[in-house]
Amino acid sequence: MTSVQTQTVARPPKIGGAMPVDSPVIITIDGPAGTGKSTVAQLLAARLGLDFLDTGAMYRAAAAILIDREIDREEIGELVSAVLGADLHFDWSQDPPTILAWDNPIDHRIRQADVTAVVSFVASIADLRHHMVRKQRVIGSQHPRLVTEGRDQGSVVFPDAAVKFYLDANPEVRAQRRVEQLAKKGDVVDIQEMCERIVERDRMDSTRSDGPLMCPDDAIRIDTSVLSLDQVVDTLEQHARDRIAMMLDGS
Ligand code: DC
Repeated sequence: MTSVQTQTVARPPKIGGAMPVDSPVIITIDGPAGTGKSTVAQLLAARLGLDFLDTGAMYRAAAAILIDREIDREEIGELVSAVLGADLHFDWSQDPPTILAWDNPIDHRIRQADVTAVVSFVASIADLRHHMVRKQRVIGSQHPRLVTEGRDQGSVVFPDAAVKFYLDANPEVRAQRRVEQLAKKGDVVDIQEMCERIVERDRMDSTRSDGPLMCPDDAIRIDTSVLSLDQVVDTLEQHARDRIAMMLDGS
């Protein structure tokens, strides 16, 4: 995430250290593209000693399967069968965990532009979402100390999560961040065009009938537009530690 504000802001005091090791803790982070969820979730998980789950990678893997198996967009049943057959899973020995389909790593494929272009469509397929939600809950039971990020983690997948966050930022800032990320990889994209793509992806993600992008009522909402990456992670860490300390106290 780009720092868009140079002014220093007082940081909340750090408590430090991992969470109590014997208690399950699910922390959800939802929000639209370009809010830095993935980086923030990874850093938060590392600070708290929790596992990290990138659920967008699962939808991206399904989109890569659609393209690489040359499945027609109308053939929803064929796509769902292929994704089930691929047995998407993560290699938890890697940091961050990498995703595999048919036991082959596909991380290199899932961030490519053609996958990004179709992933919102793929993520709107109800049968596919039901499959992903089931898989994510299984992952949650196998990794009960987890920071998970996506669009529906707090609202649908883990409604009883200990702590829920919703990250947001205005579309211009999100477009600027994406353009800078792509520039580092040598891809030049016009900021206006990126902003239009982001607004369209938000529209598709938030208007679908199943698991739409939304801020759960009990989530802590944070606007990251004028915060640096460190400031965002510090804020989430402080909230998470406070909430969990309260839960463990029974208050
Ligand atoms: O976070 P991302 O850009 O990697 O997500 C890719 C797409 O998958 C995006 O269109 C939203 C969708 N998605 C979703 O619908 N539900 C999730 N839990 C995670 C991602």
